[in-house]
Amino acid sequence: MNILCIGDIVGPAGVDFVRGNLWKIRKECSVGLVVANGENADPGNGITAQTARELFSSGVDVITSGNHVWQKSSVYDFLDDCREILRPCNYPEDNPGHGYVIMRVQGLDVLVINVQGLVFMEPIGCPFTAVERILSECAGKYELSIMDIHAEATSEKIALARHFDGKINIIYGTHTHVPTADEKILPNGSAFITDIGMCGVTDSALGVKVGPVINKLRRKMPQRFELAEGDVTMNSAVFVYNTQKLCVELVKRVNFS
Ligand SMILES: [Fe+2]
Repeated sequence: MNILCIGDIVGPAGVDFVRGNLWKIRKECSVGLVVANGENADPGNGITAQTARELFSSGVDVITSGNHVWQKSSVYDFLDDCREILRPCNYPEDNPGHGYVIMRVQGLDVLVINVQGLVFMEPIGCPFTAVERILSECAGKYELSIMDIHAEATSEKIALARHFDGKINIIYGTHTHVPTADEKILPNGSAFITDIGMCGVTDSALGVKVGPVINKLRRKMPQRFELAEGDVTMNSAVFVYNTQKLCVELVKRVNFS
């Protein structure tokens, strides 16, 4: 089974690209499952229920998220009600939403976990402990497992991946919007890439206009960031899972534009 994981979808331009291309990509690449990070899908960051539904009808099966998922409070009820949209599992348990889901795909029970890093981010619960708890709670209930690590630091994503190597089939990072070139199968069999990148405007700084970003970094004064406009690149990774041998055989980066 081919599994397509998409980096952070940024703004209406990213959502439009997914709407216009994902069903075709699913067909052409024989994709059985799509997991996409949607925490920046709406203007001003965050995601609304309406945009989430749009991504589902465009071919996304599971939406993961991260620190920006709390931006639009109107989505909180939807996070509680819909199991196919996730928020990081290591936020306080009484926050809205769920940190993992088990769904049936092509005869397999697939566990998808969303976790967030701590380095240069909110000091929430320990990501190692939170994921270990989910794995023990769900033991025996799934055949294939996937984890989106939404984190800033490459070292933290690599440490988490190596800790769960052999325990989770597919492990990848999101959040930085910049793809890394380190896709590989780890020593104990997990497939890993540190960051998938984004689905956003190509000529931009992480999906927003470059000018205010330069100004903010140069002048150290508050700036208003605006979404960039123009052609979109969708950074993604395809993971090939061998349903006979129960292992991931291949991970490759694919850019669609
Ligand atoms: Fe993020």
